[in-house]
Amino acid sequence: MLRTPHLIALAAALVAGPALAAGNDDAMLKLANTSGCLTCHHIDPGGKGPDGLAPIGPAWKDVAAKYKGQKDAQKTLTATVMAGSNPYESHWKGKVSGLAMPPNKVAITEADASKLVSWILQLK
Ligand code: HEC
Repeated sequence: MLRTPHLIALAAALVAGPALAAGNDDAMLKLANTSGCLTCHHIDPGGKGPDGLAPIGPAWKDVAAKYKGQKDAQKTLTATVMAGSNPYESHWKGKVSGLAMPPNKVAITEADASKLVSWILQLK
């Protein structure tokens, strides 16, 4: 019987935990993961890609910093995510090991891509 209060406290902490996480981070991370984005992208800068090379795609916090304050970024980047990037006009040349992003429209709907890009752009 002595243990009961502890169990209640533990249960309360477990319930409170995710609710305290900022905004919809959990939902967006899950979406990014199930859509395959995280095989090429990290959230935080400084990560490594396969074989210790630069990461395949840019860290999403770097993406947020690069497009900060650009009004059309949300639309443009959603279009790039769906259709893929142009290897002849790389925006991340020399900074990432991937030459281009392939189209993701097989993996994600445009509505979900739009949500994910909005979330990426507000990362700090
Ligand atoms: C196969 C690897 C790969 C996958 C999977 C991938 N990306 Fe990328 N992504 C890249 C590369 C490489 C670039 C850099 C393109 C460039 O240099 O212009 C990039 C760039 C981006 C950019 C910045 C584009 C720009 O013009 O600056 C965003 C935003 C992005 N990816 C989001 C996503 C999202 C969201 C997903 C999942 C739906 C995803 N990526 C899946 C490789 C990938």
